[in-house]
Amino acid sequence: MKNTAMPYLYIFAFGIVAIFFMSFIGLNNMEEISAEKEGGGEATEEVAASPEEIYNKSCIACHGDQYQGGVGPALTGLTKSPEELKAILVDGTPNGMPGGLIPGQEDAVAEWLTTLK
Ligand code: HEC
Repeated sequence: MKNTAMPYLYIFAFGIVAIFFMSFIGLNNMEEISAEKEGGGEATEEVAASPEEIYNKSCIACHGDQYQGGVGPALTGLTKSPEELKAILVDGTPNGMPGGLIPGQEDAVAEWLTTLK
């Protein structure tokens, strides 16, 4: 009798251990998920980034750290209107200005570009 019951006891004990184990894994995942949510908060901060920050991320490589130009032309003293500049930022140009670099930020950055001296 004792011998036939033993395997069930082992399975029972194993099941309890497994449940403990899984709940610890679950706790770990919960912490990871909430950490990811905090990371997601940073992403929304990016949306609210200032034009300078956007420039430093997406434009500086071609237009220079002082807007003096490089691969692209200097961006100081632009005579184009914010609307024209926005169109350049959205669509790019055939001569090497890539469009769509800063989706949703074009208005703010176009306004800001007109203030560069
Ligand atoms: C891969 C290099 C590259 C990157 C990155 C880049 N540009 Fe340009 N940009 C150019 C080039 C090249 C031109 C000139 C295009 C032409 O003459 O048609 C240009 C032209 C422009 C113009 C028009 C200037 C004028 O006098 O008409 C503006 C405004 C501009 N870029 C803004 C930006 C902004 C803002 C960013 C970042 C979101 C950016 N660019 C990122 C290469 C780049």
